[in-house]
Amino acid sequence: MKKVRKAVIPVAGLGTRFLPATKAMPKEMLTVVDRPVVQYAVDEALEAGIEHIVFVTGRNKHVIEDYFDVQPELLDTLTRSGKTDQLQSLNRLQPQPGTISFTRQQAPHGLGHAVWCARDIVGDEPFALLLPDMVSYGERGCLSGVMDLYRETGGNVIAVEQCDPMDTGSYGIVGKGDSTGSGFVITGMVEKPAPEAAPSNYYINGRYVLQPDIFDVLSNQRRGAGNEIQLTDAMVRLSDIQKFYASPFEGRMFDCGSKDGFIQANVAFALIRDDIRDMVLDPIEQLIASRRRHIQAA
Ligand code: G1P
Repeated sequence: MKKVRKAVIPVAGLGTRFLPATKAMPKEMLTVVDRPVVQYAVDEALEAGIEHIVFVTGRNKHVIEDYFDVQPELLDTLTRSGKTDQLQSLNRLQPQPGTISFTRQQAPHGLGHAVWCARDIVGDEPFALLLPDMVSYGERGCLSGVMDLYRETGGNVIAVEQCDPMDTGSYGIVGKGDSTGSGFVITGMVEKPAPEAAPSNYYINGRYVLQPDIFDVLSNQRRGAGNEIQLTDAMVRLSDIQKFYASPFEGRMFDCGSKDGFIQANVAFALIRDDIRDMVLDPIEQLIASRRRHIQAA
């Protein structure tokens, strides 16, 4: 079994659900507490043992590249003013030279096409895929569980969570087969099915380990839901010849591409930070209580 060394992180999406904030700034640079959303995906990948990150970017996303580069003036200023804590934390987050690559998706043809754009950099080896809008919250990052199951089963592994059965139209949905280790065999996959057509309520939550054969399938994949080249459709075709397994995530994902998910993520991550929790817990509780009283009185 080949080791999973590389992770693809697509960051080419337009972020229309977050306008006007994303008019001049990539949605991946919105901050959850004090770190950009994309940093959470990188941290999760590194925690899971990934050695090289491949970003698939698009126009107006150059600030993401700058963010992961060294900023010598900033480091000088922090050094001269003795701000060692900030200096150390920036140094800790700094990717090692040569461990990060960028390629561009030149037009918004969908997630499947974005992944296909990474084919030359990934090469002939299995790779992880993290959709950075989905921010993992739990004891361990979601990708670590996916990698554990991959080491048991090989093949292709997708992280899943259960959604409200009425919400299947927002996600890729998998069918549940026999249990295997910490997961189960996937019996089918459908992109954004209506509730009555969904094979289960297990939704694809944005973390995958895929075999490189997916690139060949994607190279002639027809457009699907939303007139886009869908990764899920290509995975369905690959599943004719390769096994797919689901790794149920024990934590939860916040969809930071949506306003409600983004706000919930900010509250959740603030409340687990020792340096912030005590400053925000009481004020948040008071705000909620006061809002509840206001709604009841209305
Ligand atoms: C994509 C995938 C979908 C998955 C979702 C998770 O959809 O196509 O299968 O469930 O991400 O966020 P998108 O959100 O890009 O429409």
